[in-house]
Amino acid sequence: MKKKLLITGIAGFIGAEIAKKVIEKGYSVIGVDDLSSGREENIPKRAEFLKLDLSKKEDFKQLPIDIDFILHLAGQSSGDISFDNPILDLKKNTHSTLNLIEYGIKNKVKKILYASSMSVYGSVIDKPISEEYKTNPLSCYGVGKKCSENYLSIFRNKLPFLNYRMFNVYGPGQDMSNMRQGMVSIFLSQALNSNSITVKGNLDRYRDFIFIDDVVDCWIKGVELNLKNKTINIGTGKRTEVKALIKEICSHFNDITIDVEESTQGDQFGIYSNNELMKNLFQTKKLITLEEGIKRFVSWAKKNK
Ligand SMILES: NC(=O)c1ccc[n+]([C@@H]2O[C@H](COP(=O)([O-])OP(=O)(O)OC[C@H]3O[C@@H](n4cnc5c(N)ncnc54)[C@H](O)[C@@H]3O)[C@@H](O)[C@H]2O)c1
Repeated sequence: MKKKLLITGIAGFIGAEIAKKVIEKGYSVIGVDDLSSGREENIPKRAEFLKLDLSKKEDFKQLPIDIDFILHLAGQSSGDISFDNPILDLKKNTHSTLNLIEYGIKNKVKKILYASSMSVYGSVIDKPISEEYKTNPLSCYGVGKKCSENYLSIFRNKLPFLNYRMFNVYGPGQDMSNMRQGMVSIFLSQALNSNSITVKGNLDRYRDFIFIDDVVDCWIKGVELNLKNKTINIGTGKRTEVKALIKEICSHFNDITIDVEESTQGDQFGIYSNNELMKNLFQTKKLITLEEGIKRFVSWAKKNK
């Protein structure tokens, strides 16, 4: 029997990419999204789609009761917006997660996989950050992600979880019109449309950029392997400065000008992952390099402009 997956946030960047891949692998997919930032055209045709808002308890009546696994990616995904409207962030993220946990327990779901974020760590030392590092989020978004992690942990005996602390995910499928989330997509979109890149914050800041296909592989392995109740960094383990990312993007264009502005509220100066746990658990062989990932992303973005 085909396993039935409930993918929340299926109209968003990562949810849609996971959905495409699991459908190819023969899973049956029910996708939900409130289309607040996601787009209907992202949803694979072979997924059954329900438009609903996970922060509204009454919307859960629409969901089937025979789900095997929940892949929970729905949420407000911008640190910036979480400061504009912390209550909205709370509803779309933590409140929705709690509703989903309740649904999962009631319907005896085998496991929930959750899209957490490196933003739970906050300010860190300039070394690879492992899962044991203290959490001290700097944004309302990060607080909400950590809070959801804590709820998942509390209910783990009734609903086992895997918690994915994803670093900066980028690649084809990312929303090129959203200027408030996704460092790589924002810079690439600016380069494509205006021949200039505006950087909010210092060029020496650093991140861990992981290509979408590598992230999707980790989510699929999380469904297929008998793992539970673990928190796992999803990153490359590579420290990349913002200026190096810009150089990589600019190598695909002529004469891009760079402007540097003040940083956004709650922005982490720098962070990159210790990804040993991810590599061990998922037997990850070779990750896509930034050079290759940007090349693929630029080629996709130019075709889809
Ligand atoms: N993209 C990254 O680099 C990254 C890194 C770490 C964590 N994450 C997390 O991973 C998840 C997916 O990220 P993404 O980049 O695909 O974001 P995205 O914004 O493209 O997708 C999120 C989707 O959730 C939907 N949504 C929001 N609130 C909802 C609600 N209450 N009910 C139903 N649907 C709702 C949106 O319409 C959107 O389609 C998010 O939770 C995000 O916080 C992303």
